[in-house]
Amino acid sequence: MGGIHHISASIEKKIGVLGTGYVGLVLGTCLAEFGNNVICADIDTHKIEMLKNNQIPIYEPGLPEMISALTKKGTLAFSDNPAETICNC
Ligand SMILES: NC(=O)c1ccc[n+]([C@@H]2O[C@H](COP(=O)([O-])OP(=O)(O)OC[C@H]3O[C@@H](n4cnc5c(N)ncnc54)[C@H](O)[C@@H]3O)[C@@H](O)[C@H]2O)c1
Repeated sequence: MGGIHHISASIEKKIGVLGTGYVGLVLGTCLAEFGNNVICADIDTHKIEMLKNNQIPIYEPGLPEMISALTKKGTLAFSDNPAETICNC
């Protein structure tokens, strides 16, 4: 059993997604919804500031509720520093 625990712990994912546009924001949210720890990074500081304040820059039904729940849970976060995000994932 110790071995199984070790394997499951070793496959826990910390994922960085670069770009919080239509593709990246939806992808990152879905990866977090599936149980991963996700940081979504973008060079657009205004967009990241919006996301940190729970304002969603794209129209996608259901996405605001998912992002709100996942950020509260702590498994989805946003960064305006893509380089740091790469180093931390
Ligand atoms: N092949 C396909 O079917 C398909 C479908 C949709 C989108 N795409 C492509 O995927 C890409 C993303 O699409 P989208 O709709 O999400 O675009 P988008 O313009 O909505 O979002 C792109 C985001 O990436 C950010 N960005 C740019 N450079 C960055 C960098 N160096 N580091 C971090 N963030 C950066 C931008 O600020 C922007 O927020 C586009 O190039 C698009 O053409 C392909």
